Amino acid sequence: MKLNNPFLVRGYCGPEYFCDRQKETSQLVDSLVNEGDVTLIAPRRYGKTGLIHNAFHVLPQEYTRVYLDIYSTRNLAEFSKEFASAVLGALETKLEKAAHNLAKLFRSCRPTIVPTESGLPKFSFDVVPSAAEATLQETFDYLAKKKRRVIVAIDEFQQVLDYPEKGTEALLRSLMQRLPWVRFIFSGSRQHLMREMFLSPKHPFYQSTDIMSLKPIDQDVYCRFAKRFFTAKRKPFRAEAFSSIYNRFDGVTWYVQMVLRRLWAEDAGVPDVKTVDDAVENIVLTRTFEYRDLLNSRSKAEQALLAAVAKDGPVAEPLAGDFIARHGLRAASTVASALKHLKRDDLLYQAEQGYVVYDRFFGVWLKETC
Ligand SMILES: Nc1ncnc2c1ncn2[C@@H]1O[C@H](COP(=O)(O)OP(=O)(O)OP(=O)(O)O)[C@@H](O)[C@H]1O
Ligand SMILES: [Mg+2]
Repeated sequence: MKLNNPFLVRGYCGPEYFCDRQKETSQLVDSLVNEGDVTLIAPRRYGKTGLIHNAFHVLPQEYTRVYLDIYSTRNLAEFSKEFASAVLGALETKLEKAAHNLAKLFRSCRPTIVPTESGLPKFSFDVVPSAAEATLQETFDYLAKKKRRVIVAIDEFQQVLDYPEKGTEALLRSLMQRLPWVRFIFSGSRQHLMREMFLSPKHPFYQSTDIMSLKPIDQDVYCRFAKRFFTAKRKPFRAEAFSSIYNRFDGVTWYVQMVLRRLWAEDAGVPDVKTVDDAVENIVLTRTFEYRDLLNSRSKAEQALLAAVAKDGPVAEPLAGDFIARHGLRAASTVASALKHLKRDDLLYQAEQGYVVYDRFFGVWLKETC
């Protein structure tokens, strides 16, 4: 289907609207078809989920694709429920008939069929915490019976570290090992947690997968991608103006997409830096209330540190005396504790050159407002 606005900020609509990532897509697909599992690690908004869907698009037909996002799961029971629902949703075609048969296979929980917002019914599982492990086991038994080539992508995988059940990684790893024809993608944005899980000898997944990271899309390639759409619409497009978007947001995909989407909606094209800056301003303006609430929800020390980083960022040494003095921050120990909390909650992010406000639009707002 042809989109009214070609710059997506959510979801995947085929390669036409997906810029580049050819090497990364091939690398991911090659690992999977060569019977490997892949860990995909990159900061938020770089395009991990998009890459998974693009790889799904080009995978050979014989593979069944299963995708689940476990960001909102809080324990093994919720994971098992999501996992079972995604696996069955992808492998079962005739829902009604399947539900009847599956009741025999899934003894620990009750698979039922529920309507969804999209109109397509899906499987739902009633998993009580004591049956979580059994349900997971039964889902793997089900996969074993199917004997189909399956790729399971588990997005936001670092979430399992927050579960109260500490053995989740070991359990999953041992279940996976029995099914060589089912391959896994583990994706996550909390880089130190993901690295810890897959690169530390203390964790069950140690060195068990091919590790991939994502960099921003190449600027020239991205520029050509954007230009193609605007030119086809007979709208002005200047490379310098595109560069100003790309550089302002360090090429991070979601922010670039957001600005391009806005410019497309305004029917302005990408004629000059002023038009681009106005578009950014308009996006930030629509988020004022959200950002004010977010700022007010933090302690005074955290608010001051956020504002200081927004003004100076990237900040290589936020605990340095001159940075603290220049912004009138409190004692270094207070700044250190604020920094810890802001990092934990994904409000500050430690990039290569130093700390930045993780949500770049929030950074723009803070710089203007505080
Ligand atoms: N190569 C691409 N070309 C065009 N748009 C893309 C591309 N990759 C991602 N996008 C778009 O950018 C946005 C952010 O990408 P995506 O959701 O894949 O990032 P993510 O790394 O999974 O982020 P998060 O960590 O927040 O889940 C999405 O709206 C997606 O549609
Ligand atoms: Mg994602």
